[in-house]
Amino acid sequence: MKALTVVPLKAGTAELSDVDEPPESDGPVLVETLAVGICGTDAEILSGAYGWPPPGRERLVLGHESLGRVQDAPAGSGFDAGDLVVGIVRRPDPVPCPNCAVGEWDFCRNGQYTERGIKEHDGYLSERYRITPDYLVKVDPSLELLGVLLEPTSVVAKAWEQVDRIGGRAHWAPSTAVVTGAGPIGLLAALIGVQRGLDVHVIDQMESGVKPDLVRALGATYHTGSIDKACPSPDLVLECTGVSSLVLDAMEHVGPGGVVCLTGVSSGGRTVSVDEGALNRQMVLSNEAVVGSVNANRRHYEAGAAALARADKAWLERVVSRRVPLASWADALQRQPDDVKVVVTVAPA
Ligand code: BGC
Repeated sequence: MKALTVVPLKAGTAELSDVDEPPESDGPVLVETLAVGICGTDAEILSGAYGWPPPGRERLVLGHESLGRVQDAPAGSGFDAGDLVVGIVRRPDPVPCPNCAVGEWDFCRNGQYTERGIKEHDGYLSERYRITPDYLVKVDPSLELLGVLLEPTSVVAKAWEQVDRIGGRAHWAPSTAVVTGAGPIGLLAALIGVQRGLDVHVIDQMESGVKPDLVRALGATYHTGSIDKACPSPDLVLECTGVSSLVLDAMEHVGPGGVVCLTGVSSGGRTVSVDEGALNRQMVLSNEAVVGSVNANRRHYEAGAAALARADKAWLERVVSRRVPLASWADALQRQPDDVKVVVTVAPA
């Protein structure tokens, strides 16, 4: 079967390869891949900056934002042929650490987890894959291709859960939220914020175009510029860019008792100057919390699936801004001005 493969840590090695059928060792459920979303992590892997091949192999099958249709599932597995499904990305470490042992692999303590399409386990950008039912999540069939948004939605569902849990250390009734970045992660974070009834402010750089339009269509407010001008003292900030100046802006301007949740992975190597004493003083005297959040466990996929099922399909359609057939995969990687989420289609949804 065809698969998009790459040699991790070597730029320019991506190719459409002929690979073996998925191994039985991956699990008893056989899934036909319909579509796979491309994100910043894939771009990093393709640029040679990130990623690990499976042990003993040179190439990794790419793709972690999947959508598929069950072709064959054992009786009693909870899945039937025809179900629209998404595969979970991370697998617990083999030790397992105390967190992985209880299904919280997103909090793996020893770093020995694997991730499909990223770290030591083939991804989903092949015509078929196999999986165990524990790592498969059903999506509302009416979503059709839009179910491909579940993996990024699971990541922001986890971020919202972190904000709630940390905010909930004291009386917590947030009303204003700032989201930095109007890419897919920022937009999906804003979607969940609006669904929660919050006054959501999204900050990005574009003055016009699809991103401001999508923010406004949600009922959120779009801004360019800094947090204090957009929404002074928000109850929480979901930082979805990884841009150092915005990370600091979030820490400096979140409201008293507020929570800043960082979801963007920065590339490192950039230095910004900061009055550390003033920042420390403000964070201490205002009980502020900053938390990093990565990946998602099954609970977050389920929360994400519920959020997508409630969302306006026409809005989600606009988030999936470009669809590229597998044979033209290279086009998916050429960023275009109005790109939001670009999806590689493998079979009709
Ligand atoms: C994926 C996460 C993963 C992270 C780090 C993100 O793009 O959505 O599932 O944990 O990359 O590898």
